[in-house]
Amino acid sequence: MGEIKSIGVVGGGQMGSGIAQLAAVNGIQVWLHDTDAGALNKALSSISDSIQRFVSKGQLSQEVKAEALRCLRCTSNLEDLAAADIVIEAIVETEDVKKSLFVNLDKIVKKSAILASNTSSISITRLAAATDRPQQVIGMHFMNPPPIMKLVEIVRAADTSEDTFSVTKALAERFGKTVICSQDYSGFVVNRILIPMINEAFHALYSGVATKEDIDTGMKLGTNHPMGPLELADFIGLDVCLSIMKVLHAGLGDTKYAPCPLLVQLVDAGRLGRKRGIGVYNYNKVSKETKP
Ligand code: NAI
Repeated sequence: MGEIKSIGVVGGGQMGSGIAQLAAVNGIQVWLHDTDAGALNKALSSISDSIQRFVSKGQLSQEVKAEALRCLRCTSNLEDLAAADIVIEAIVETEDVKKSLFVNLDKIVKKSAILASNTSSISITRLAAATDRPQQVIGMHFMNPPPIMKLVEIVRAADTSEDTFSVTKALAERFGKTVICSQDYSGFVVNRILIPMINEAFHALYSGVATKEDIDTGMKLGTNHPMGPLELADFIGLDVCLSIMKVLHAGLGDTKYAPCPLLVQLVDAGRLGRKRGIGVYNYNKVSKETKP
């Protein structure tokens, strides 16, 4: 396969909208699909605002912005992605839902197209096995937020071909990203290390070692992290963090990966982090006081 000219992105949440933005500002035609029309409207306005911030800082021109918005189309019909050279999936982190999407995409997109997943932890090999094109299935794991973060982790499934790998790597580099390569084991590289650290921060809070503020300040000033682990968990989404911990626990089979009960409880309560206005911290109120 040659250069990518058209991209489909499935899932218009925080990751999918950022990935669609990257494609559009690089002049690539992009169809952004979500089953929720409200999510698509939100994605369009957040993409436009985000590109405008780059323009205001002098990092992109008005012409690039206008061209990017011309390249971007939103749809609630998955079949509109039929002509894409690559489809990047960024829907909910649930294996069965992703598998069923891959089965549908496999029927819809052209034979040569690559199916990529932005999953944080789910087995790419099992997603690939649900299709009739396992050689053309790959993990393309962007960091949050995709337009800013410099890394893409590329995950080879058991049958991913060299051609699929090199086309995907070239696309990430065209987006200005540095690529690292991971084998397909639970959590890959970044989340294998990051999410247990976040889970440990929840354990520290749960067992009363310190306040949430002191845990975050400790890790920011003590280890030079730009965000504390609890703030970062709110930013990622507590539901996403919990899903990844469950995948690590099931896939690596060690009790050290068991999700902290406090993380489970906050997700049960619908406190999913910034996207819901409340997680470990409360983003709705002037006061930052929250229960845990
Ligand atoms: P999100 O909750 O912000 O967005 C998910 C979107 O997918 C929603 O708009 C939802 O309506 C849509 N959706 C759900 N099922 C769908 C379906 N069957 N077809 C079409 N659209 C569907 O989630 P977020 O944070 O963007 O995560 C998406 C994926 O990216 C997950 O696999 C997650 O693990 C991964 N990821 C998340 C990161 C983060 O920091 N949040 C970082 C890197 C990867």
